[in-house]
Amino acid sequence: MTVTALAPTPVAESILHAIGNTPLVRLHLPGVPAGVELWGKCEWFNPGGSVKDRTALSLVTEGERSGSLVRGKTIIDSSSGNTAVGLALVGRAKGYPVELVMPSSVSAERQRLCRAYGAQITYTAAASGSDGAILRVREIVAAQPERYFYADQYRSQANPLAHYRGTGPEVWEQTAGRITHFVAGLGTTGTLMGAGRFLHERDRRIRVVAVEPDHGMHGIEGLKHMETALVPEVYRPELQDASVPVTTDDAYATCAEVLASDGLFVGHSAGAALWAAREVAREAGEGVVVAVLPDGGERYLSGPEPSR
Ligand SMILES: Cc1ncc(COP(=O)(O)O)c(C=O)c1O
Repeated sequence: MTVTALAPTPVAESILHAIGNTPLVRLHLPGVPAGVELWGKCEWFNPGGSVKDRTALSLVTEGERSGSLVRGKTIIDSSSGNTAVGLALVGRAKGYPVELVMPSSVSAERQRLCRAYGAQITYTAAASGSDGAILRVREIVAAQPERYFYADQYRSQANPLAHYRGTGPEVWEQTAGRITHFVAGLGTTGTLMGAGRFLHERDRRIRVVAVEPDHGMHGIEGLKHMETALVPEVYRPELQDASVPVTTDDAYATCAEVLASDGLFVGHSAGAALWAAREVAREAGEGVVVAVLPDGGERYLSGPEPSR
C-alpha cells in the first residue's frame, strides 16, 4: 500500500475553526461482504478528541447568537463526558467559565481533561448514569437561572444542527454522494438526527441506522438504551430507518477487531457502531456504509481492558 497525503495541510484561524472536517477512512473489518465498502468517520480528529466538539461549538455559538449567553454567565451542562470536554475547550477558547455535571463513572481521562481546561465538575451517582446528571443540572440551573447559560444538549436544536451542517454534508461529499447507509450510535441522538436528516434530504434511499445498547445496564459510554432512558427532546425516531441493538461484549470485541484489521484504536461506542455496520453490510450485500466513530480508545485506557 502506497500512502500519500490526502489534501493540503489545513490552516485554521483559531482552534475552534479546526472543529469538523474529520477524515473518512476505508476499513477492512473481517466479515464485511466484498460488495460493500465500509468507511469510518474518525471523530477523534476533532481538537477536543471527539464528535462532541461539533455539538459544543454549535451550542455555544447559538447561545451567543440568541443573546442567552453573554459575558459574565457560566456555561453549564450535563454530559457523560465528551460534550463536557468539548464545552470545556470551547468555553476556554472563548473566555467563558464552564461547570459540568457528570456521573462519577465517567472515565478518569475525561474528568482530568475537563479539569485541565479549567472547568468545574459536579459528580452524580454512577448508578443513575447520564439521566442522574441531567436531573441534577436542572436543579442547579433552577436554583440560580441568572447565573448560567444552560447549553442543554438533549433539548437544543443547535445539537442536531451541528451535524446537519457538518457531519452530514461531509460524509456526502467524502463519498461523492455514493453513501447508501449511515450508521451512528444514539446518545443525545444529535449525530443521527442531524446527519440523518441532511442525508435523507439529499437521497431518501440512504438508510439511516441507529445503534443502541441491547440493555439498560450496559458498558458503552456515550450511548443510551432509549426504552429505559430519559428520551432526549431532539430525538425524532421517524428520522431513522432501522435500529440495531449491540451487546457491550460485542462492542468491546469489535474495538479489538478494527485495531487488528486497520490499526484504528477506537472507543467503545465506535466498536458498537462498527459491529452494527457489519450487520448492515451483511444484510445489504453491497453498498457504501459509513459508521461514525465518536472517539478514540485512549479515552478509556484506565478502564477494563477488552480481551485481544
Ligand atoms: C463516546 C460517544 N459515543 C456516542 C455518542 C452519541 O452521540 P450523540 O449524542 O450525537 O447521539 C456520544 C455522545 O456523547 C459519545 O460521547
